[in-house]
Amino acid sequence: MRGSTISGLGRYVPKRIMTNAELEKFVDTTDEWIVSRTGIRERRIAEPDEASSDLAYEASKEALEDAGIRPDQIDLIIVGTATPDMLFPATACILQDRLGARRAGAFDVSAACSSWAYGAAVAHGYVASGQADTVLVVGAETLSKITNWKDRGTSVLFGDSAGAVVMTASEPGTGFLSFHLGSDGSGGSLIALPAGGSRLPASYETVERQQHYLTMNGREVFKFAVRCIPRAIEEAVKRAGLAIEDVDLFIPHQANIRIIDAAAERLGQPKEKFFVNVELYGNTSSASVPVALYEAVRAGRIKKGDVAVMVAFGGGLTWASCAIRWTMKTQTSRQ
Ligand code: ACO
Repeated sequence: MRGSTISGLGRYVPKRIMTNAELEKFVDTTDEWIVSRTGIRERRIAEPDEASSDLAYEASKEALEDAGIRPDQIDLIIVGTATPDMLFPATACILQDRLGARRAGAFDVSAACSSWAYGAAVAHGYVASGQADTVLVVGAETLSKITNWKDRGTSVLFGDSAGAVVMTASEPGTGFLSFHLGSDGSGGSLIALPAGGSRLPASYETVERQQHYLTMNGREVFKFAVRCIPRAIEEAVKRAGLAIEDVDLFIPHQANIRIIDAAAERLGQPKEKFFVNVELYGNTSSASVPVALYEAVRAGRIKKGDVAVMVAFGGGLTWASCAIRWTMKTQTSRQ
């Protein structure tokens, strides 16, 4: 088996910034509560006519340019998203058409906030086994479209963005070193969007009951995340044949600074080894890890030869982690 690596990165965040002060005007909350309980100061919100595929398109264009790859060289497009443009066709197919990636297969992965990491694991399988040479893996979300803006338990947490990577073949022992995927469907009701599927088709009643919005038991998800992240990191490190001290940078799902700090403490690792940008974007679900990776690389926090461990968790319940030995030269010029 050959290896797989990341050879191009892109990200897109909508222009509109919503601060905590703006939220204070229409939901019963305060900037002080949001910052102290989550670390979030602002988030990006897509325009009314902007869908997840639009964000995915912008991020993908940058990733392809970064990799020096033309759209017709892509073998496969995988989009991780909890907010697809529609139930079907897949957002990946909409993206395939817009990019003009005429040779590419395309499908979506649905694992809530873990979707991009699940997609990267699938892409690794395709590239390492020789079934594909070039895979575009995107995490794209417009959570603002499924947020109940009157629910202070969720509306303060989420934001919109997209991150994209181009994955290509590498020498064994370089690039991705390990993947670990997990799920616990018994916790499915903790984060859900109840209506609009085959169990509860959309109707006047479901809209009246606001079942087309995301619901979450934040306290239980918090407990799950604090348990799950350290274990998932340890598993990725073990499968890579490394020790935790060998990891140069951890890139966790950006849901809540308290979750990230708790994970660092449980692992006995300094907080400085955890990349954080939750203050700028909030929780952008499957886009959160690739956007954080992009910003970490552009900020020079990961250099060629470094080991990074990425970890995501979310609805399903799902979790996913991976270790990568970075193969790209750092480009700090385009921040
Ligand atoms: N502003 C002010 N007060 C609030 C707010 C708010 N926005 N939200 C809740 N409160 C109040 C509650 O009503 C409660 O008041 P009470 O004590 O009078 O009942 C108090 O604050 C504490 O509420 P908790 O829910 O216990 O607050 P907690 O410290 O757990 O923080 C939070 C809530 C931020 C949601 C936290 O539980 C969390 O981050 N959970 C994890 C969420 C997450 O990571 N989701 C990721 C997956 S999402 C996906 O997959 C799409």
